[in-house]
Amino acid sequence: LEVKNGTFLSYRRNYRRKEKYMALFDKSALTYDEWCQTPFGSFVDSLEKKLLFDISRPQKEEKALDLGCGTGISSLFLAEHGLDVVGIDISEKMLKKACEKARKQNRTINFIHGDIHHLPFPDETFDLVFANMVLEFVKEPDQVLTEALRVTKKGGRIVIGLIGKDSYFGKLYADKKENDPDSVFAHAHFFSFAEIETLSQEYFTKIYPGLYISQEEFTDVQKAWEKEEERKEKLDQKDASFIVGRWDKHL
Ligand SMILES: C[S@@+](CC[C@H](N)C(=O)[O-])C[C@H]1O[C@@H](n2cnc3c(N)ncnc32)[C@H](O)[C@@H]1O
Repeated sequence: LEVKNGTFLSYRRNYRRKEKYMALFDKSALTYDEWCQTPFGSFVDSLEKKLLFDISRPQKEEKALDLGCGTGISSLFLAEHGLDVVGIDISEKMLKKACEKARKQNRTINFIHGDIHHLPFPDETFDLVFANMVLEFVKEPDQVLTEALRVTKKGGRIVIGLIGKDSYFGKLYADKKENDPDSVFAHAHFFSFAEIETLSQEYFTKIYPGLYISQEEFTDVQKAWEKEEERKEKLDQKDASFIVGRWDKHL
């Protein structure tokens, strides 16, 4: 597979070339980033990035893979930190948005159209493999993790961001799953802490919880960070709306 900078190439392994394929997130592509521009959305976005950064400790010039990269939020974030990034997603429309953003920001990121159940990379290619809010939407999370481990170098790590099943957001999205058949959550699976740990027990390292406040109680960014710090100490980790798991591929 040839990968070109700032463009995406089709990697249609699981569906026929002539079929008109509509990926679940195609319909969200144009509006996906809008939420991050609202005051609460922007707070959540910074908190998630901080947590992902603290946990993954990205280093300049490392090779990173962003699984289910969507509109490229994490891909761009990693590129800004000097990593050599490849993003892969099944939605052409989300990828188109990611390409536009990378071009505007003058970042060189390789975006690939493909299914993350079958990664088009040799074994041990990447230092860091990211998957933010993706595992909830795939058919076989175990297979995705197995593939992620295959393409991770020995000594590398996988960092996965997930919605906390029993949290404020988990319940909000579970409600959409129940009541809105057109929602992207209609077939989503939300993971409990126990389930996350069993995804790949051999390499599982740790879970880091975060995001303890709801949209209703958000007033301003400063207070939100203070509340977040306070609650981190007091609340149970299952109340965290965003959880990040880290898997280390031992040498
Ligand atoms: C909620 S979005 C997350 C996007 C991005 N990671 C972020 O943090 O904003 C989930 C993404 O996973 C992608 N996705 C779902 N199943 C996939 C699959 N089997 N292969 C590749 N991408 C997939 C969707 O197209 C969508 O862009």
